[in-house]
Amino acid sequence: MRSITNNLGIVIFKMQIDDTFLDLSNLNRLVIPSTNIHLLIAGRTGSGKTRATLFLIAKSVLQNPNADFYFADFKSGGDYRFALNSGHLIDMQSAIDNACYALSARQAGLPDHYPYVVVLDEYPSFILSLDSKERKVYQSKLATLLNLGRAFEIHVWVVTQRPGAELFANGSRDNFNCRILMGTPSPETRRMMLGDDISDVSADWLNNNVGQGLIYRDGVGINHIAVPQLNWQKLNSFLKNSFKK
Ligand SMILES: Nc1ncnc2c1ncn2[C@@H]1O[C@H](COP(=O)(O)OP(=O)(O)O)[C@@H](O)[C@H]1O
Ligand SMILES: [Mg+2]
Repeated sequence: MRSITNNLGIVIFKMQIDDTFLDLSNLNRLVIPSTNIHLLIAGRTGSGKTRATLFLIAKSVLQNPNADFYFADFKSGGDYRFALNSGHLIDMQSAIDNACYALSARQAGLPDHYPYVVVLDEYPSFILSLDSKERKVYQSKLATLLNLGRAFEIHVWVVTQRPGAELFANGSRDNFNCRILMGTPSPETRRMMLGDDISDVSADWLNNNVGQGLIYRDGVGINHIAVPQLNWQKLNSFLKNSFKK
């Protein structure tokens, strides 16, 4: 189980993380969702998707100390090394299987309803690595989680370069009630992420640096954002402490 150690570094880090995404149009700080979302994060390689995700993980851990996070990183580039050997960093297949198992258990009446969040970084590469039969199986499992999960506090965060509808069976992509588009994506990716809402976005919101982008929240609409400036080493230590055995 996670324990949050109260050493000085973490106290200082907590102060930093009181910052949230900066709304670039009025320089206000946004109230960002905690765990009660299915989250889709898209953008080109190097646009800051994983960093934005790590920030949101830390933020959610602080807001929901009893949330249970599982991470799968198909690129295995080390971004989630903070959870190594903690039982929280697992392969993508197990991450999806376990979340489905948790969903079935809760549907069958298990009273555990703490937030259960499964973070799938580079999900499409996982899907493409499967043979066509397995691919269908896992796309269908993910669709089930997206369609039914939220009612049982089971949440999916997908990080991807391209958020093509073909990756999400039966229109299940529509269940992502929070979407973040980092950097300067192609018009096609913008359309996939934001659909018709893209017509509300002014042209100067579309060319973003690393760590900047757009957020869409159901019921709120689109904002132009920057991930706060953080000490990423401290964020990493904070996460390491949060997920140590
Ligand atoms: N918010 C940010 N502030 C400063 N630098 C950032 C930020 N986000 C990303 N970077 C820089 O860009 C690199 C790539 O970011 P990353 O989140 O790994 O991108 P992606 O997951 O989209 O490929 C990071 O290693 C870091 O150097
Ligand atoms: Mg990444």
